[in-house]
Amino acid sequence: MNHRPVKPQTEIFSKGYDPQRSEGAAVPPVFRTSTFLFKTAEEGKRAFEIAYGLSPMKEGESPALIYTRVNNPNTEILEDKVVCWDGAEEAAIFGSGMGAVSSTCLAFLRPGDTLVFSDPVYGGTEYFFRHMLPLFGIKTKHFPAGATKADMEALIQGDPTVKAIYLESPANPTIVISDIEAARELADQYSTPDRKIILMVDNTFMGPIFCQPLKHGADLVIYSATKFFGGHSDLVAGITMGSKALMGQVKVFRTILGSIADPDTTWLIHRSLATLQIRMEKQQESALKLVDFLLKHPKVYDLSYPGLPQTGERQLMLWKKQCRGTGSLITFKVKGNEAEAFRVLDAIHHMKLAVSLGGVESLIQHPSAMTHSDMAPHEKAHAGITDNMIRISVGLEDADDLIADLEQALAKI
Ligand SMILES: Cc1ncc(COP(=O)(O)O)c(C=O)c1O
Repeated sequence: MNHRPVKPQTEIFSKGYDPQRSEGAAVPPVFRTSTFLFKTAEEGKRAFEIAYGLSPMKEGESPALIYTRVNNPNTEILEDKVVCWDGAEEAAIFGSGMGAVSSTCLAFLRPGDTLVFSDPVYGGTEYFFRHMLPLFGIKTKHFPAGATKADMEALIQGDPTVKAIYLESPANPTIVISDIEAARELADQYSTPDRKIILMVDNTFMGPIFCQPLKHGADLVIYSATKFFGGHSDLVAGITMGSKALMGQVKVFRTILGSIADPDTTWLIHRSLATLQIRMEKQQESALKLVDFLLKHPKVYDLSYPGLPQTGERQLMLWKKQCRGTGSLITFKVKGNEAEAFRVLDAIHHMKLAVSLGGVESLIQHPSAMTHSDMAPHEKAHAGITDNMIRISVGLEDADDLIADLEQALAKI
């Protein structure tokens, strides 16, 4: 048997699942159970010791399952597979992207700590940072997405309360890439032996196919698995990945906050993994055609899409350094204001007027009035979110049909 290493696209078909433990089923069944039987009381005692961190797991030990809020075969199988692209030691599946964001942040932040984040971030994350963390005595500060190392440092330097740096890269909805390696250097520079600064990166927009933040120095990578991982707009889930040590802390919080995904959702994501790469590549291929069309359109300006020379030298440098693809999210402005943007949205036929992204169907939305409507006008202005901005997530429809659709909708301005 040749044991040459295989690529993630091959590895995900077999890693983490032993059919012999499921009556030889070719694909894992759904383990729709809330609780698991222990063979003996001693086995149950040992399972709890490990789950609650009372005693470390021994080499080769395989603890019994306990309860589906703690773990479940579907969760464990998926967690073993999803790390293939990012190269993480361990993953945790959550009931939503916000479950992943909030549980992960709460696992590391304490009253008096400060979280420094790139601005903008997804509207829900933004709300959690600006309005909820302060309720627990956790302060937040932000720098513009794509900021230079010096600009990020200005917020961190001289502030011993900084405990975490959070990047959303590329940012929702402006699609601006942030410098993961510079943030890593700052986290190392300003960490002390008893206060390690954690670097978290939300990589939802690029997905694990086109960017792997852990390889650029992130401690933890976070995903809304509702998007490309699920890929069919039929589930809500989240994922955090990182080292075993950090993920152990994350999983304790997931257990007690009750933010794990249910077995059915986990099974659906598992099924979607096989097509993740092929979907993302095809969606990207179509997005490139749409970008080409939109760039030439007289009613469109300020188009943001990774890898475009128009995004400027620095963005291009960050894209080359961190990304292997351009993805399938496009943000642009139309000539006019909200009324003109709404006219386009209301005239679209083949794209669905809905928030979310990364599904097989193209979605189009208005960030200022929808995903980021919670932000105050000055916060939107600071983040570059304008009333004439439109965001598209390109799906798997025929690209020429999508272009024709956009053409007729833009003609309504
Ligand atoms: C970049 C990003 N992170 C996190 C989330 C939150 O994910 P969910 O909606 O799955 O809770 C979203 C949702 O749109 C997002 O776009």
